[in-house]
Amino acid sequence: MSDETVVLGIETSCDETAAAVVAADGAVLSNVVASQDSFHAHFGGVVPEIASRRHTEVITAVVEDALRQASLKPADLSLIAATQGPGLVGSLVVGVAAAKAYSLAWGLPLVAVNHVEAHLYAAFLHPPGQEPPARPDYPSLCLIVSGGHTDLVAVHGPGEYELLGCTRDDAAGEALDKAARLLGLGFPGGPAIQRAAADGRADAVPLPRPVVDGYDFSFAGLKTALARAVEERPPAGPIDVADFAASFQEAVVDVLWATTSRALAYLRPRQLIVAGGVAANRRLREVFAAGAEQYSVRLAIPPIHFCTDNAAMVALCGFDVYRRSGPAAMDFDVFSALPSPGGPEEKT
Ligand code: KG4
Ligand code: ZN
Repeated sequence: MSDETVVLGIETSCDETAAAVVAADGAVLSNVVASQDSFHAHFGGVVPEIASRRHTEVITAVVEDALRQASLKPADLSLIAATQGPGLVGSLVVGVAAAKAYSLAWGLPLVAVNHVEAHLYAAFLHPPGQEPPARPDYPSLCLIVSGGHTDLVAVHGPGEYELLGCTRDDAAGEALDKAARLLGLGFPGGPAIQRAAADGRADAVPLPRPVVDGYDFSFAGLKTALARAVEERPPAGPIDVADFAASFQEAVVDVLWATTSRALAYLRPRQLIVAGGVAANRRLREVFAAGAEQYSVRLAIPPIHFCTDNAAMVALCGFDVYRRSGPAAMDFDVFSALPSPGGPEEKT
C-alpha cells in the first residue's frame, strides 16, 4: 500500500457507531460518530442489547455519511479496517459484518483491528492540509486510559509492544463512571465528574492514592474510600458533590501520573503518548503536560474528540496492521477480550 492509501474505518465496540475515512499520513477526511448516550443514560450504563440493535439500525447510514463527508466513492478506497475486540460481542459483530459485506461488495481488502491498540493511533490523526504530528519516536511510553483499560505500554518499534502494567481491578474510566453514579451525576460519568469538579476543591475530601508494585494500577480501593467518605459525611450537612468530584478526579489523576512517571524514569522514552476516553479529562491533560515538561519528554495526546471512541483511529491503525500482516481472512471472528498491545495471549 502506498502513501495514496485511503482507509475506511468502522468502530462498534461499545455504544458509539462510528465510521471514518483516513489517509495514510493520518489526515482525517471524515469522522462520523453516532452516539447512543441518550439511549443508555436512563439505565445508568450501556445496555448491550440496546447497543447492538441501535448499531444495526444506523451502521449503513453512518458509513454512507463518512464517504459523503469525505467526498469519496467506494472506488476511491484502498482498505477497510474494523474493530475486532475487545468490547461487547453483540456490538462488535455488527461492525465486522458490515465491514465484511462492504469488502466483498467493493472488492477491498479488510483488516481486523484491536481497539486498545487503535486508541494509540488517535495521537497521530490530523485535519487534512495540516502538518501531521510527529509519528512515534522509539522507545515511546503509552498510557491507554479508557472505560475498559488502564494500560502502560512500551513501544520499541513499529508494532513492537511491551505491556509494562495494567489495572488489577477497575479501569480508570470505570472508576470515574462508578463514582459519578455514587454521587448521582449520571452517565457517562467521566465528563460528569469533570463538570462537577470545576466548582469543587480537590483537597476537600482526603482520599488515598493506592500504589501497586511494578507498573500496575488499582482503583477499586479508591472507589470504596469515596463511598465511605460519602457515608461518613456529617449527617446534617448536604453532600457537596463538587468537592467529592474534584477530590476523586484529583486522586485518579495523581495515581495515573505517579505510576506513569515511574515508568518514564525507568524507560527514558523519547515520547509519551496518552490516549483513551479518560485522556479527554482537562485535569489529566494539565498534570501530564506539566509532568512531561519536567521529564523533558515530548507529549503526544490526541485532541479531545479523538480521545473517546471513534473510527478514525481504527482506520489509521488498520493501515499499519495491513503493512505488518496483510489482509485478514474473511472468516475472522470478534472477541470480547483480546490481549492488550504486548500483553499475554487472551482471547474469549
Ligand atoms: O475510550 P472510551 O471512549 O471507551 C472505551 O474504550 O472504554 O472511554 C470511555 C471512558 C468512560 O469511562 C468515560 O467516563 C471516560 O472515558 N471519559 C472521561 C472523559 N470523557 C470520557 N473521563 C474523564 N474526563 C472526561 N472528560
Ligand atoms: Zn475505547
